[in-house]
Amino acid sequence: MYMSNKNYLFLSVLLTLVFLSSCKKDSPISSNSFEEPIVEEPIEKFKFIPPSSQRNGDPDAGYEYLVYGDYIDSGVPVDLFLGFTGQGSNRLNREGDNANIRYSETAVTAPNGQRVVTSNCLTCHAQTLNGQLVIGLGNAVADYSVDQATNINLVDQTLTLLYGQESPEWEAYEPYSRGIHAIADDVITEVRGVNSADKLAVTLSSHINKHDLSWIEEPQLPISEEVIPTDVPAWWLLKKKNSMFYGGLGRGDFARIMIASNGLAASDSTKAREIDNNFDDVLAYIFSLEAPEYPEGIDALRALAGENLFNEKCATCHGLYGANESYPNLLVSVEEVGTDPYLVSSNFGYSYFVDWYNSSWFSKGKNAAYLRPENGYMAPPLDGIWATAPYLHNGSVPTLDDLLNSTQRPDKWKRSFGTAASEYDHEKVGWKYTIESITGSSLIYDTSLPGYGNQGHNYGDDLMEEERKDLIEYLKML
Ligand code: HEC
Ligand code: HEC
Repeated sequence: MYMSNKNYLFLSVLLTLVFLSSCKKDSPISSNSFEEPIVEEPIEKFKFIPPSSQRNGDPDAGYEYLVYGDYIDSGVPVDLFLGFTGQGSNRLNREGDNANIRYSETAVTAPNGQRVVTSNCLTCHAQTLNGQLVIGLGNAVADYSVDQATNINLVDQTLTLLYGQESPEWEAYEPYSRGIHAIADDVITEVRGVNSADKLAVTLSSHINKHDLSWIEEPQLPISEEVIPTDVPAWWLLKKKNSMFYGGLGRGDFARIMIASNGLAASDSTKAREIDNNFDDVLAYIFSLEAPEYPEGIDALRALAGENLFNEKCATCHGLYGANESYPNLLVSVEEVGTDPYLVSSNFGYSYFVDWYNSSWFSKGKNAAYLRPENGYMAPPLDGIWATAPYLHNGSVPTLDDLLNSTQRPDKWKRSFGTAASEYDHEKVGWKYTIESITGSSLIYDTSLPGYGNQGHNYGDDLMEEERKDLIEYLKML
């Protein structure tokens, strides 16, 4: 196999895309591309989101399944994959053929016995920061601004040439390929660093029979063009939350919601049931994760002053930290928080997706899950907030200092997308960036694009300069 690095990149992006599906959420609107967002059903300023019962599981077994499991059981033959990529570094200390594969992919056995490489959840839910791989940290450097259509054709052709379409290799690859073909040009973001998992879930659902989860070639739902971007939330926050996703959309059994990840290589509800039986352990693992500690010194005096400010101005929505820890699980109306409304409006606009989900296999039985669109955003827990830049649900604000001073937020900004310690700004807390005046490059975050707005959340605006510093010092401790 002689593929250039560039081709390998294609392949890895492809593999990355495959996995998107795990995240059942909303997504964009109907067929009216980028008209004013539809915001229905005004809610009170705040709304408490009640808990639902969750299954217990074994965190260690959950980790094993996460990094070895065949929740996606179709992909590229192991040998071919290694031919493309060379040996990856074994950052998860995995064994067997997985010792040769980087953390974001897993070698699994396809139903016909072939060993194939496919993406895993860590593609989006892990990232290097300060030289360390942090599991559970949302990947804020991946690039979904690239069209996958030509790339999957390339992989198709390579497999056809090497093995032929009658081969077991092709059989083990085919569900994966058809999934990518179905989504490729529907999930492209405008800029690098944001994620289109929500749109992926919607697009895939249109190809899946809601009763038995079998694949349908012709899309059944009216999928619109636009792709509303999101940042990827940190996994360690989930244990405090009564709902999943930025707008509180995911309700009921969280493990059940997560299994939509096999959508891309969907086979049937028997496979889904098998995944479902393992995902209670994955959930237990996610619940066991803690936020990473701030790696540098903290000015204790400033932090103390900051704590007082926080408890006065922020705790109503974000809860208390430390000895009296509490989290209120409040959904805040879009009118109140004022941040970009497109993600929330897509929850309403994609009612066909919500209806599909709420009448599907996922919503049935003892551990049922359902989606509930709300007209607001959850005020998230802020544990490990120092590590999760950029900020807001769409990752539109590069640092905490900018978040807490809306007048100072850059309209167009660019970062290196490197993850070394030197890329992180410990004063403003977040990614180092430059302010740009032109647009047109996917490396520049342009907040004038629909869904990419950086407005709202003005709760830090009236702080004095020194107070803001104190508050940021305190936030480093969470
Ligand atoms: C392609 C990227 C991608 C992959 C792969 C992915 N996710 Fe996600 N995940 C996201 C994004 C983006 C969100 C946030 C969506 C939103 O709220 O709108 C999310 C949200 C979540 C949440 C909810 C977190 C919260 O606090 O609300 C959980 C739990 C989760 N994912 C688990 C998983 C699991 C388990 C897998 C693997 C089976 C997985 N994800 C694979 C992108 C991904
Ligand atoms: C009225 C409720 C409310 C108050 C008061 C409030 N926030 Fe928020 N905060 C929110 C909501 C809702 C979001 C999510 C908005 C979004 O993503 O669009 C948020 C998001 C954030 C984020 C970004 C989280 C992330 O992961 O990207 C930070 C940081 C934050 N708030 C800090 C603060 C601080 C510090 C204060 C006090 C000065 C404060 N907030 C006051 C409701 C509030």
